Amino acid sequence: MSEQTTLPVDNQRKVFIKTYGCQMNVYDSERMGEALAADGYRQTEVIEDADLILLNTCHIREKAAEKVYSALGRYRDLKAERLKQGRETMIGVAGCVAQAEGEEILRRAPDVDVVIGPQTYHRLPEALRKAKTGERVVDTEYAVEDKFDYLPKKERGVRPKNVSAFLTVQEGCDKFCTFCVVPYTRGSEISRSTKQIVDEARRLAENGVREITLLGQNVNAWHGESADGADWGLGDLLFHLAEIEGIARLRYTTSHPRDMDDRLMQAHRDLPKLMPYLHLPVQAGSDRILKAMNRRHTAEEYLALIERIRAARPDIAMSGDFIVGFPGETEEDFQATLALVEKVRYVQAFSFKYSPRPGTPGAELGDQVPEAEKADRLQRLQAMLTRHQLEFAQSRIGMEMDILLEKPGRNPGQLIGRSPWLQSVVIDGGEAEIGDLVRVRITDAATNSLAGVRIA
Ligand code: SAH
Ligand code: SF4
Ligand code: F3S
Repeated sequence: MSEQTTLPVDNQRKVFIKTYGCQMNVYDSERMGEALAADGYRQTEVIEDADLILLNTCHIREKAAEKVYSALGRYRDLKAERLKQGRETMIGVAGCVAQAEGEEILRRAPDVDVVIGPQTYHRLPEALRKAKTGERVVDTEYAVEDKFDYLPKKERGVRPKNVSAFLTVQEGCDKFCTFCVVPYTRGSEISRSTKQIVDEARRLAENGVREITLLGQNVNAWHGESADGADWGLGDLLFHLAEIEGIARLRYTTSHPRDMDDRLMQAHRDLPKLMPYLHLPVQAGSDRILKAMNRRHTAEEYLALIERIRAARPDIAMSGDFIVGFPGETEEDFQATLALVEKVRYVQAFSFKYSPRPGTPGAELGDQVPEAEKADRLQRLQAMLTRHQLEFAQSRIGMEMDILLEKPGRNPGQLIGRSPWLQSVVIDGGEAEIGDLVRVRITDAATNSLAGVRIA
């Protein structure tokens, strides 16, 4: 169905954005959407209507990267179909596959017009204009300018009732874990300036955002300067952001165990707005494997760290990432992972079979673990993780807590919010509105969601 509109034709171009991968890609997709909006594109959820299909891609595991190529295969027919109707379709590939594979994408996917990396996407409108002339564009050079200075600023959070928002404060990684592509796809660690971050946080708050999640591949490695020139780490930044009026909740992700410093612990101890939830991936529980992964800490050091965090904030809930079947991992090594998980009792976790990635040291190692063994370990690990998650959820029954209301529920009158521990909570909304913090008593719990009733 075509819409009637008085805008000039050029202003009605539509873009369909599909996002894979981590939260940083979600953030980047929003920024690309804004850059394109300033250039006359509107976003659509209907891919058949799109003049531009933009994939923001992830390279972390083989499956993630392959998904992109199968999607591109499907778009071929779509492009041909639209062409029959006299409508052109541009296809853009952004994100980490773009960065890692560049030109290779043009070879494998003949319909792709533009390939643009995570550090250059502010130049997307320009690349698209070039591609319009028939030239296929690859722009994955690290830009000398700062992309954040070139992105439009005013549109942040203007979507109505956007209660919770991401804010990238740090990008890239210098840790070089031997399994991981991120240092290659996102480049070396950079922190955004305090001023940029605070300005963006203020804009978000002015637009009605109540909760901000600071993002970084190594978010707790963030460092910057205060207005009077003092050295700041993430803890200092959190203290500062907590003073912004309207912001009720702060979170951050993802952290590396090596960068949890004292000031950050103080933030957990002293800042009620900083939610008692910490994503602190450990990947494995065997020291031998941790060493081979280049994680640069032992299992015991990690457990001691968690003890200190819990001393600072006793109700903190831990979340983690795990890889099973790293090269050389024996059943005994895997048992050490299970033992660590049993001690920590994560309330949420992401676990994966090791996927050898081209260009990473892990892929070159002998002694790769057979697929069936990886699958078996993953299943055993996930059974334990899910059990802990459910037990944690059930332990909330009868508790009173603040819930930040985010969206309508399935049934009329229902609203869905988040607990301090990032669980979804369904309540009967009554007079409450999205964006409100309401006091709730939990009445029921399943692995992924809670139910509660409002209390005075
Ligand atoms: N910066 C974060 C993680 C980024 S990647 C950190 O340091 O923990 C997100 C998760 O993907 C990782 O924590 C890891 O569990 C998983 N992952 C990364 N590379 C992988 C690979 N080659 N195979 C399987 N899982 C992988
Ligand atoms: Fe990857 Fe390790 Fe860096 Fe995390 S810390 S992004 S796992 S290299
Ligand atoms: Fe994937 Fe890139 Fe994020 S590889 S996990 S999208 S940083």
